[in-house]
Amino acid sequence: MDPFLGIATPEDLIIESLGEARIPNTFDKFTKTQITDDRRIAVLTRRHELLDFFKQQGRIPFFEVAGPREKLFFNPAETVAGVVTCGGLCPGLNDVIHAVTLTLRGHYGVKTIYGFRYGFEGLTKNARLEPLVLNEDTVEDIHEVGGTILGSSRGPQDPAEMVDTLLKYKVNVLFVIGGDGTLRGGRDISNEAKKRGAKIAVVGIPKTIDNDIQCIERSFGFMTAVDKAREVLLAAHAEAKGAFNGIGLVKLMGRDSGFIAAFASLASKHANFCLIPEEPFTLSGPNSFLEQLEKRLVRKHHAVIAVAEGAGQELFKSLDKEKDASGNIKKQDIGIFLKAEIKKYFEAKNIPVSIRYIDPSYTIRSLPSNSADSIFCFLLGQNAVHAGMAGKTNLVVGYWNQHFTHVPIDLAVKDRRKVDTEGRFWKGALAVMG
Ligand code: F6P
Repeated sequence: MDPFLGIATPEDLIIESLGEARIPNTFDKFTKTQITDDRRIAVLTRRHELLDFFKQQGRIPFFEVAGPREKLFFNPAETVAGVVTCGGLCPGLNDVIHAVTLTLRGHYGVKTIYGFRYGFEGLTKNARLEPLVLNEDTVEDIHEVGGTILGSSRGPQDPAEMVDTLLKYKVNVLFVIGGDGTLRGGRDISNEAKKRGAKIAVVGIPKTIDNDIQCIERSFGFMTAVDKAREVLLAAHAEAKGAFNGIGLVKLMGRDSGFIAAFASLASKHANFCLIPEEPFTLSGPNSFLEQLEKRLVRKHHAVIAVAEGAGQELFKSLDKEKDASGNIKKQDIGIFLKAEIKKYFEAKNIPVSIRYIDPSYTIRSLPSNSADSIFCFLLGQNAVHAGMAGKTNLVVGYWNQHFTHVPIDLAVKDRRKVDTEGRFWKGALAVMG
């Protein structure tokens, strides 16, 4: 893992702007303290990392702090905004749409907000539906349900076509709500607009239950997914305990990063094994997963296993490189595979086991946000609006050391955030799992 989070040059942290913000921000009646761009927060907080960074690059890296600016680039009375939700569902999508709409209208008095339908496709000629007009009435109560009122889709679209649509609707600020693929799409729109001299700000809001966006310590929806996954682990535990040599095997989403499995395991305190993509494991032989499972059953007569969908891919002989519409390699089904291997292993040893396999699948991401995520979404949405109105572009609103930040999209998508298997969190989780 890169301790410097891919920050190699001073430019990596610079937030792009459409031009000088000249309009005094007298619109925002709710916010008393407005900030200037020189407010910063240190990226690295550990002394040794700071020193190493300073030794290498002769400076200290800072993120720009998010929040309402003293000066705006766009005159709210003439501003048109757009919102688009892309990729897989995630708890809190509707909360963010709600927050963006209410902040644009309530804080700034922006009159026209379009919600483009079904992801980036809604910005192309193939859009299936006209954009939805967002206002206090159309977003009322939407945060109470999961999913997104706008619909979503995976996959990139032609940036030129998307900018054509934005120009057609006279959109000045576009809010793109999504994970790394979506953010890349947002960057392409921003670059295409720049190429044409069109003043369109593109502001990302970090959505993914996988929590795998670089430089952002928490994406919205993640903690709600963890809550739900924890419930499933508790159910698996009850099932496992209810049978002699019961094994509760739970497969959880998490394509390349095992945060959901790790956090849910730690929260449930009942997972005895947590298998994540970051930590390869062996199936059989000395000190292997199956050998440890057998030891656990001998000792306690039940076991709970949390496995992230991207774990153990090295165990599959021919790695199928089929990709989904977002360009992610589709994973082999580790849950079904483990279930079969566990059965085979104990049958061969004539040890009776009862395997209860649970795959909660989409149920951990299609639900409404919990309270913590709901508030988090609200604050992310608000900060995104402040950034957009100030004319900042090609950025995603981040969260780092308890502060909302501005992260250049290029930096956020440079790499994937992963569980640090050498870190104290993972080691602590292992200790809890015994
Ligand atoms: O959005 C992230 C995620 O939930 C991953 O954990 C999972 O691998 C993927 O999306 C599945 O999404 P879909 O089936 O919609 O492509």
